[in-house]
Amino acid sequence: MDEKSVLSRLWPIVEEYYIGRRAGKYLEYHDPEELAVLLQLDFQGDPGDWQEVFNWVEKYLRYAVKTDHPSFVNRMWSGASLPAMIGEVVTAFSNTSACTFESAPVSTLLEKFMFAQLLEIVGFHGGQGQMTTGSSNANMIAMLCARNLHDQAVKEKGLFAGRRLFAFVSADAHYSMDRAANILGIGLEQLVKIPVNARGQMDAWELEKKLEAVCQVGGLPFFVAATAGTTVRGAYDAIEPLLTLRGKHGFWLHVDGAWGGAAVLSERLRHKFLPGLSEADSFTMDFHKMLGSTLVCNVLLLNKTGGVLQNALAAGDGSYLFREAEDDVSVDLGTASLQCGRRVDSLKWFLDWKFHGRQGLAGRVESFLDLCRYAEDCVERYPELEMVVSRESFNICFRFVRDEATANDFNLALRNRLYKGGISLVGCAYISGKLVLRLLITNVSSGRGDIDRYFAGLVAAGRELDLEWQGEGR
Ligand SMILES: Cc1ncc(COP(=O)(O)O)c(C=O)c1O
Repeated sequence: MDEKSVLSRLWPIVEEYYIGRRAGKYLEYHDPEELAVLLQLDFQGDPGDWQEVFNWVEKYLRYAVKTDHPSFVNRMWSGASLPAMIGEVVTAFSNTSACTFESAPVSTLLEKFMFAQLLEIVGFHGGQGQMTTGSSNANMIAMLCARNLHDQAVKEKGLFAGRRLFAFVSADAHYSMDRAANILGIGLEQLVKIPVNARGQMDAWELEKKLEAVCQVGGLPFFVAATAGTTVRGAYDAIEPLLTLRGKHGFWLHVDGAWGGAAVLSERLRHKFLPGLSEADSFTMDFHKMLGSTLVCNVLLLNKTGGVLQNALAAGDGSYLFREAEDDVSVDLGTASLQCGRRVDSLKWFLDWKFHGRQGLAGRVESFLDLCRYAEDCVERYPELEMVVSRESFNICFRFVRDEATANDFNLALRNRLYKGGISLVGCAYISGKLVLRLLITNVSSGRGDIDRYFAGLVAAGRELDLEWQGEGR
């Protein structure tokens, strides 16, 4: 097969998958052992046989989770926007690293262009941006910058010579904060988890007490992270009280908007959820979550001038690679990056932005919030369901009603029955010891009818399971 025929053969397979992505079941489920048998991974065809490649592709797609299916309400992303997918395909075909202008000239300019707009929108005038491999890493890089700024000797001497550094996050912050504290040598004992209030927000009064306690023992509070949309409950930590505390203690204030940061694009939602954001020191958000880009599309923004990122990350002799010119336009983005090879994530980001515009993306986030309100009403309409905590923003944390002693096991069993039956896939987590089903709506093609069908399927399966459990005396 020549290259042109290979491409012509590929396209109909992808097209068939794409056209059928919302039909039928969201998954043909098999246990891992069963799936391994079906896939026959050790089968070896003739080397160089293109037909074999397409057989593998077809198998991959057949058993894949159709993440654009309306029954996939499990994660912070689903499906993806078509312009972003086009960007992804072109990125793969033009395979390069976005670390230097000379290897990725257009991508470098796209990234800088996009950051100029986003920094303006967020209100970080004169700040700096960097695409990273996700908010987990963005959180870590923010913590790194804060660490190096507060302890100027740390880069050379390590953490051994300086004051004991303390970071503060809410008890509901993402686990990437623990990883960051571990990787950066801060240590989990110095990552202080602040209790949350009844709405799931960091309790600023508790934070103040903990900050003072740390100072009293000679510690240095160097970093506080507010979460804008917590992973389970969707709570937004109030930023403004933290700004006041920063005035007193001088820490770096980071806002983790991996999930809920998308609200910044809508004037209305920004006002509601993110007051004070423009005064923070750094902010991260994922375009691959609510905003529909393909995985991964993350941005970290610093409200700082003077190459804070470059200073924190500059290491060893990069002269074999970087050719930074005087001219700022051609600067090598890799000098402010954790990686050496840097995937081109800017093209899909740019294409989506051009296609939908800021207003289009803002409208998407606003419509998700409307659908979340509708989903909450659905929960309240079914006597079999209950909200476990009230909805703060985009997360609906509910469960099938049962006596407290069996509720967790029952809801887990229900969730797994739906999953393995290919009916729907929803996330689950614990809030104060109660297992909740965490419904997230991130599918731009989904509407109220899809939400109705989702709950109807869940309640029908729940009733069936309930009868079975009653029959077994459970
Ligand atoms: C609040 C929060 N922060 C950070 C992350 C990590 O984001 P990423 O998956 O881009 O690393 C998540 C992911 O769910 C999150 O919910």
